[in-house]
Amino acid sequence: MSDDPVLIFSMTKNKKAKKPWPTKDAMAQIYEKNLWGGEESEYYSGLGSHHPEVVNPYIAAVSAFLKDFETPPVVCDLGCGDFNIGKELVKYSKKYIALDIVPGLIAYNKKAFQADNLEFHALDITTDELPSGDCAILRQVLQHLSNAEIKSVVEKLYNYKYVILTEHLPEEDFEPNKDIISGQGIRLKKQSGVKLLASPFNLKVKEEKQILSVKSPGFKGVLETTLYQIN
Ligand SMILES: C[S@@+](CC[C@H](N)C(=O)[O-])C[C@H]1O[C@@H](n2cnc3c(N)ncnc32)[C@H](O)[C@@H]1O
Repeated sequence: MSDDPVLIFSMTKNKKAKKPWPTKDAMAQIYEKNLWGGEESEYYSGLGSHHPEVVNPYIAAVSAFLKDFETPPVVCDLGCGDFNIGKELVKYSKKYIALDIVPGLIAYNKKAFQADNLEFHALDITTDELPSGDCAILRQVLQHLSNAEIKSVVEKLYNYKYVILTEHLPEEDFEPNKDIISGQGIRLKKQSGVKLLASPFNLKVKEEKQILSVKSPGFKGVLETTLYQIN
């Protein structure tokens, strides 16, 4: 029997069929079992959310973008995780709405991080209606989702003026958007990564600008952050 957290196996005669867990259960189990690291019983979203060489330049680049607005923007953080990063961006927004699929994590964040302009909500960005805002942040979230789930998120991105997307990608040339089962893993193991402008997502944008690319000791590949102007 596999102990892979994102898969259950059902035996039909001699055939082994892989059935994905619902994404909500898979993500909750990742936090419960600390599969992205961290101390037992703490919510920890992984090295990509904590390594200073990755986190500091990201916060600098995104803060600079948010500070540039004449009126601070309403920001929707889609898949906010343990909020080690989001907490640094709240002060540059008129309202910061942080969403995640794991209810226990959201309940924890509500107690741990408080500000007048900050809201947390437990919801599934693939199936639920998303709050409106000026700018959506998607940081290392889509990389964990299947192509079908990414497609349903992409349709909703047209409601925002800007999207700031961060994805973990291979360093060399690669075939984008190979499909995976939603869960702990990402496309890097298939020498692939998420590119929203490519098929099958074909996101239509007015402008695309890479604002950060970081390679850090401790993991393969690069963390690329792209700013899209959608409307
Ligand atoms: C690797 S963590 C990144 C967290 C945070 N964005 C950061 O960069 O620190 C991915 C997060 O996406 C959340 N997530 C995955 N699928 C989701 C979905 N369908 N709806 C909302 N959140 C989701 C997970 O629960 C997890 O907290």
